Amino acid sequence: MFASNLIAPHGGTLVDRLAPEAQRASLLAAAEALPPVAVGPRVLADLELIAVGAYSPLDGFMTNADYKGVVENMRLANGTAWSLPVTLPATKAEADALREGQPFALRDEQGRVVATVTLTERYSYDKKNEAEKVYRTADEAHPGVAAMYAQGDVLLAGPITLLRKAERGPAVVDHWLEPAQSRAAFAERGWRTIVGFQTRNPVHRAHEYIQKCALEIVDGLFLHPLVGETKGDDIPADVRMRCYTVLLDNYYPKDRTLLGVLPAAMRYAGPREAIFHALVRKNYGCSHFIVGRDHAGVGNYYGTYDAQLIFNEFKPEDLGIRPLMFDHSFYCKKCEGMASAKTCPHGAEDRVTLSGTQVRDMLAAGTIPPVEFSRPEVAKVLIEAQRAARAAG
Ligand code: ADX
Repeated sequence: MFASNLIAPHGGTLVDRLAPEAQRASLLAAAEALPPVAVGPRVLADLELIAVGAYSPLDGFMTNADYKGVVENMRLANGTAWSLPVTLPATKAEADALREGQPFALRDEQGRVVATVTLTERYSYDKKNEAEKVYRTADEAHPGVAAMYAQGDVLLAGPITLLRKAERGPAVVDHWLEPAQSRAAFAERGWRTIVGFQTRNPVHRAHEYIQKCALEIVDGLFLHPLVGETKGDDIPADVRMRCYTVLLDNYYPKDRTLLGVLPAAMRYAGPREAIFHALVRKNYGCSHFIVGRDHAGVGNYYGTYDAQLIFNEFKPEDLGIRPLMFDHSFYCKKCEGMASAKTCPHGAEDRVTLSGTQVRDMLAAGTIPPVEFSRPEVAKVLIEAQRAARAAG
């Protein structure tokens, strides 16, 4: 199924939980009569990612033993490394209507059946403990913690069968590669070593610098922005997709880059999410993964390099994929180039660094930030998007 010169999926096999095409219609019809559990966009995204193997070796939502192993020790019950819970929350009323060993139907917000799950277990869980262990904070102002606190109080476990994939919007449809497809694309290009890059932002010069440093030592770059749910003040995925395209078209070698999308929700779990992001990219076929400053962080919950330090808690063979760690990067006027504290001897006064707020203010005023911070083509896309959003009210 996957070219043997690429890294093996996590756990050894790429999970496939899609209903066979020939049975889909009859399974969908039969599922209409099953007890329902309603799921929102976050769980729907996880559901499809499990089904297409992006979360291999998970073949369903976590059992209590896996959940506890992950929360407490970053290990599934069988010892495989895994850092974030992937769970199916339900209300008590929904859970009470189900029987163990029996299938139930997951329905999306429009009420359509999307999958069936055979219930193996239902269990309660300690949200505060999950928050403290996984997010390193129980603060409800943390967006990942808030989302977890808002979900149902019972977790349901069991293998899934996906009956209906999510609709892909026009901005992402051309870049929607499932793990088997990204693996095939890498193999077709003859790439053996591929660096995965996670982002929830437009790609600025610091991102570009660390990507290109990595590209010096591997065959290909898989630019893999997360396009699932993000917090309100993050830039919408459709705008970012235009930024990525214009950047790749103008500044990257076409035969050494591939743009995909990761439809998962952002958890903002910092260090734990860095491990998760790396393992997921391994399933997409990446051999290397970039972890820079405050990866998947939010506010001041994590230290600048906590998401790098957490990799020390694993043996390299536990993860398989190799992290490529980068220090905070910037443009240095004296070096006349991009650099980091590892390569630049000059002081902070020589460095072009802008805060998120400064950049937002510049873009809102229609001002193109310095070329040392952002490529002008990218800035133009962002300014146009802001204008359009304002015009739309
Ligand atoms: S994230 O939430 O997806 O991690 P972001 O899109 O900002 O946020 O970052 C993408 C990747 O680039 C992460 O690995 C992050 O650590 C890294 N990164 C972002 N800005 C810098 C920078 N100035 N220097 C070094 N690494 C950076």
